[in-house]
Amino acid sequence: MRKLLTFCFILIAATALRAQDAKMNAFISNLMSKMTVDEKIGQLNLVTPGGAVTGSVVSKDVDGKIRQGNVGGLFGITGPEKVRQAQEIAVKNSRLHIPLLFGLDVIHGHKTVFPIPLGLSCSWDTALIKESARIAATEASADGLDWVFSPMVDIARDPRWGRVAEGAGEDPYLGSQIAAAMVRGYQGNDLTKTNAVMACVKHFALYGAAEAGREYNTVDMGRISMYQYYLPPYKAAIDAGAGSVMSSFNVIDGIPATGNKWLLTDLLRNQWKFKGLVVSDYTSLNEMTAHGMGDLKTVAALAMNAGLDMDMVGEGYLTTLKQSLKEGKVTQAQIDQACRRVLEAKYKLGLFTDPYRRMNAERAEKEILSDAHREFARRIAAHSFVLLKNNDHLLPLKKSGTIALIGPLASNHRNMLGTWAVSGDPEKSISVMEGIKNVAGDAVNIIYAKGANISDDSTLVKRTNVFGPEIEPETRTPEEMLQEAVAAAEKSDVVVAVLGEAADMTGESASRSDISIPESQENLLKALVKTGKPVVLVLFNGRPLTLEWENSHVGSILDAWFGGTEAGNAIADVLFGNYNPSGKLSMSFPVSVGQIPVYYNAKSTGRPWDGKESPKFKSDYLDIPNEPLYPFGYGLSYTSFSYSGLTLDRQQITPRQPVKIKLTVSNTGNDDGEETVQLYIRDMVASVTQPVKELKRFQKVFLKKGESRNIEFTLTTNDLKFVNSNLHWVYEPGEFKVFVGGNSRDVVEGDLVGKP
Ligand code: NOJ
Repeated sequence: MRKLLTFCFILIAATALRAQDAKMNAFISNLMSKMTVDEKIGQLNLVTPGGAVTGSVVSKDVDGKIRQGNVGGLFGITGPEKVRQAQEIAVKNSRLHIPLLFGLDVIHGHKTVFPIPLGLSCSWDTALIKESARIAATEASADGLDWVFSPMVDIARDPRWGRVAEGAGEDPYLGSQIAAAMVRGYQGNDLTKTNAVMACVKHFALYGAAEAGREYNTVDMGRISMYQYYLPPYKAAIDAGAGSVMSSFNVIDGIPATGNKWLLTDLLRNQWKFKGLVVSDYTSLNEMTAHGMGDLKTVAALAMNAGLDMDMVGEGYLTTLKQSLKEGKVTQAQIDQACRRVLEAKYKLGLFTDPYRRMNAERAEKEILSDAHREFARRIAAHSFVLLKNNDHLLPLKKSGTIALIGPLASNHRNMLGTWAVSGDPEKSISVMEGIKNVAGDAVNIIYAKGANISDDSTLVKRTNVFGPEIEPETRTPEEMLQEAVAAAEKSDVVVAVLGEAADMTGESASRSDISIPESQENLLKALVKTGKPVVLVLFNGRPLTLEWENSHVGSILDAWFGGTEAGNAIADVLFGNYNPSGKLSMSFPVSVGQIPVYYNAKSTGRPWDGKESPKFKSDYLDIPNEPLYPFGYGLSYTSFSYSGLTLDRQQITPRQPVKIKLTVSNTGNDDGEETVQLYIRDMVASVTQPVKELKRFQKVFLKKGESRNIEFTLTTNDLKFVNSNLHWVYEPGEFKVFVGGNSRDVVEGDLVGKP
């Protein structure tokens, strides 16, 4: 009966959907029958008058072009009034009154800024992450936006690459869960709603595998790695209903993604059945010329033939497509198809019914940066922090005594929000100093000293400060600053050193070859440690850093990433134990740059090193270990957890018979706390070599002090599939290992046999 009801429900829903599609198609066909070729090509043109410039080109005469029907969408402006003015030009003054699509990079919140995405991913809390996207959509839509260039789902294993800050780390399973959650958060269940925005999955594809972590660099990867490790999060976002996809800057198999037919048509449209809009990245169409693919006319035709619908900023389509049509290099049907997809996006967003639906001054006033949004920002920030070290329960701090609050990021608003927070106002953020005062009040005495500049390297300072003075070098000498800090430390009970990167030392065009804390601050930290006072290091960073010295000399290390608008309050909540940290790393922290790439789901070599001796002829280094400093999934709590009693309800799994994995997790420490229980597998024998561990499930559990909980996971043979040499996901019966633990290194294990 239930099956019948479900079937009927699906049938009714499918019929309704078909009727809706038919209505949309008829509307668009009718509109397109009135459009000239120029107007159709105009719809493919995405411009920016400024506001979010990430290249050497900015669009010119935007208003004039809108009037002439030469613009399909615009990004870089916000605010109900400003957006309305631009929309009015399109709706009132262009021949066919077609509304514009308004987009922007809303990456980790809009005006209420949440932690950078790498930080968010360390919460391993998809419900919270979805809610952060929902709030971002609420604010962005009130501010005039229909479309957000998010989520960024590029898997990355190289922390030198600055854009690791924008993604969810190194794991395809965690990345996929987060990608889907964000899409659902942005789009809700009905795109026409005035508080829903269209998501744009980026950067399609493999952008996170840029060689040597250098921005915009070549990607060279085998198909099995693509399918098994890098493509799943894009696919998950698309399966969750993402309305659009952004092509990436890099090449794939020697062809830039923006002109890659295999990628944009064979894979995306034909295999994955994606029906939405594909937009280029910022001038990535034009950049195919520098890649060596031909002049602008040639590369624009290449992109059109590949299946790219919309051209961001470069106007390659606008200026050459008509001529290519005349010359037979592209077809009318292709231009029509691309134009239809842009119009469909507008239709689905409800813009033909009301082009002003997402410009709501009243809602903007009430909802943007509301108390509720700020309160949520504080909560999610606390969940994103990762406690990397905590010797002798140095943390949490007592709300009494004297704290020496030291460091260039300790009383700093400018760097709180991190990279890609174009709409956030740093002045509205809470600094660590303010947070500590808010949480501990007058009960603690704070002595503040800046102690060092973020960096004294003038080249780094200049390059980091392109968007404004994030690093503000002092007129005092480094020695003077250091002395003041040491004097403060000597008068204190505990030192809290707030150090790390400036906001734009990560993000786009921010690759680093040295990923340590800048030297000026390392000198400061060494001097503070030398005082003999207990030192808590609070880190601001947009990437995994190399922290070997810090790990062996500093008492406690709390990684706070860039925590957003409420970072200071959230940091203080954690420092004083109002919230017990629960974040777990979504990306490994290397011992040194020489280990990169180092990631947990690596494969065994033919001469694996057992981690014990260091004989000759094993896969290792002479000078550093193979293991990262902090592995994927790692993160401490103020309490401790133990794992026991791992059992499988059956030793054999078959395609019809899933297996239940059970164990007990206990809170063995002295505080209540949250643990993320992680389940990994290893396929011991397969036709294609498999990683030594692969994450398959995780569960967050809150356990009161002394409490134990039985945890259960269910695995099916679908979870044991891998990509074989024919590029098919297959299950091969055989031996498997199952591992459960609080990180990818420290696990309990069991055996499982896969049967046909
Ligand atoms: C370039 C970036 O790669 C992309 O992520 C962003 O969405 C666009 N610029 C638009 O700002």
